[in-house]
Amino acid sequence: MKKINSILGKILKKRPIVCLTANNTFQAEILDNICDIILVGDSLGMVVYGEETTTKVTIDMMINHGKAVRKGVKKSIMVVDMPTGSYSKSISTALKNAKKIMKSTKCDAIKLEGGVNIFKLIKILVRNNIPVMSHIGLQPQKIFYKKKFKVLGKTIKEQKKITEDLKAIEQAGSFAVVLESVTEKLARKICNIAKIPVIGIGASKKCDGQILVTEDLLGFFDKSPKFVKKYENLRTKIKKAVKKYYSDVVRRSFPNKKYIY
Ligand code: KIV
Repeated sequence: MKKINSILGKILKKRPIVCLTANNTFQAEILDNICDIILVGDSLGMVVYGEETTTKVTIDMMINHGKAVRKGVKKSIMVVDMPTGSYSKSISTALKNAKKIMKSTKCDAIKLEGGVNIFKLIKILVRNNIPVMSHIGLQPQKIFYKKKFKVLGKTIKEQKKITEDLKAIEQAGSFAVVLESVTEKLARKICNIAKIPVIGIGASKKCDGQILVTEDLLGFFDKSPKFVKKYENLRTKIKKAVKKYYSDVVRRSFPNKKYIY
């Protein structure tokens, strides 16, 4: 834990923290040593399994993808999400599941969604040497329909709740926090009072770092949230390559001499 704090502290003295998600080995190999943190996010339920939300992701899915990512991550800090239902039943089950994820994936830390409601749990995980990254603001695991994704922080009630969540997770011992889908005004306020690094997703450039889902950034999907900047349009590029392959196969121009034994 001390090691993660000191790595992030040193980075922050020079620049914002750069984070992305990965869910397989080749993605992890590409991101490793470019991103400071590589998250095996439960958004894989949506971007790998085609679900509308993250709520059907299981602990076994996270472990399998975590193991694949571990093969590609040599330098970056690797964090794995605890999925829906894996930390809400009881503290002892949550601790058992967190230990299982840490041991099977050999990740450096786990991420949990929640604030005041999981204060005690975070404290116990940290006491058991499990580094915790928190996730406040919009918490996708509480969303059961795609339409319910929204921007938070427009009302005093939401601002108060998110500020209280920050204070709770900090006090419990989280080493960093993901702040998702909030107004710039609230992001500024949260970053001003936070004592730990605040990693934003849809939370403006005021944050200490940024995270995006890699498939969103690469343009795998036609529709993405407003906060996603598509740095590539791989959906179009892949389609073009596949059509070219189709045409080569049907014209019998592939495989030509170059590709045969
Ligand atoms: O599941 C995920 O990928 C995440 C990031 C979007 C922060 O939690």
